[in-house]
Amino acid sequence: MKYEHYPVLLSEALEGLSLKPDGVYVDLTLGRAGHSSEILKRIPNGYLYCFDQDEEALKQSRERLEKIGTNFELIQSNFEHATEELAKRNVTKVDGILADLGVSSPQLDDPSRGFSYRENETLDMRMDQSSPRTAAKVCNEYSIEELSRILRQYGDEKDAYRIAKEIVARRAISPLTTTFDLVECVKKAKTAKELSKKGHPAKQTFQAIRIEVNHEEEALQKMLQDAPKLLKEGGRLAIITFMSLDDRVVKDAFRALSTVEGSRHGPVLLPDQIAKPEFALVNRKPILPSEAELHENHRSASAKLRILEKR
Ligand SMILES: C[S@@+](CC[C@H](N)C(=O)[O-])C[C@H]1O[C@@H](n2cnc3c(N)ncnc32)[C@H](O)[C@@H]1O
Repeated sequence: MKYEHYPVLLSEALEGLSLKPDGVYVDLTLGRAGHSSEILKRIPNGYLYCFDQDEEALKQSRERLEKIGTNFELIQSNFEHATEELAKRNVTKVDGILADLGVSSPQLDDPSRGFSYRENETLDMRMDQSSPRTAAKVCNEYSIEELSRILRQYGDEKDAYRIAKEIVARRAISPLTTTFDLVECVKKAKTAKELSKKGHPAKQTFQAIRIEVNHEEEALQKMLQDAPKLLKEGGRLAIITFMSLDDRVVKDAFRALSTVEGSRHGPVLLPDQIAKPEFALVNRKPILPSEAELHENHRSASAKLRILEKR
């Protein structure tokens, strides 16, 4: 079954990458090739490497990209291994890198993937379906302390401990196997006042468990260390985030890379004494979706694009 994906901040990301027709580019999060297909159209003499850890994403995107050109390669891998994977192909420097973080609409909408708290599905949430860590494993095997930390840290869930306690009590009777088993635990742990609030009560819990299942924070940290080193002079790294947790990490990393230690609060220096940072922020503030995009795709509401350039 084919599920649609609407590429978020598409024109802004394409412009932000400042594409050269003969440049070498990397899409770290292929998804359904929404961004990649438009990049490929604009680099007839260049090359595009596309990563995704989800086999289905690669399968569904290949045909779409083949209609545009042959100057691309799909790599099934977590983007935390991008540097090694590119080195295997003798690529050590590129003109631009795009990352559109998180899950895709097809992953959210396909009931067999277990990402949704609105449908009763197998408790899975893996982007990489060959990984042994499922949401069921996390819920049934992690200690109450670990569960509570994950819910607090990755979901900003203030009822973290109560929900963790409920999960542990529930699994003592029988293991959690479906998304609704987890939703039930959340609902039992929350007060009537909390439950009456706007938005689904399990949203933050699902976000937190999904991040843990896919070790998203570790992969993002690794990518932020590696990707800037892959850029040629003038090359750009564009990152789209959907969660404030990720945006904060990207913002801090970009700020550190574009600032020279001591340059902001040190003594006054002559211009040629000031060390120039290796990177520059292309925009001080994140780029947000336009009104038109928000109207067309409500899932773009929390998207933020930040761009870094290698000097
Ligand atoms: C938001 S979607 C990207 C959508 C894509 N830009 C498009 O327009 O079709 C994110 C995709 O990145 C993949 N992904 C997320 N984290 C990843 C990681 N650490 N390594 C590899 N792929 C990842 C997911 O499997 C998903 O397919």
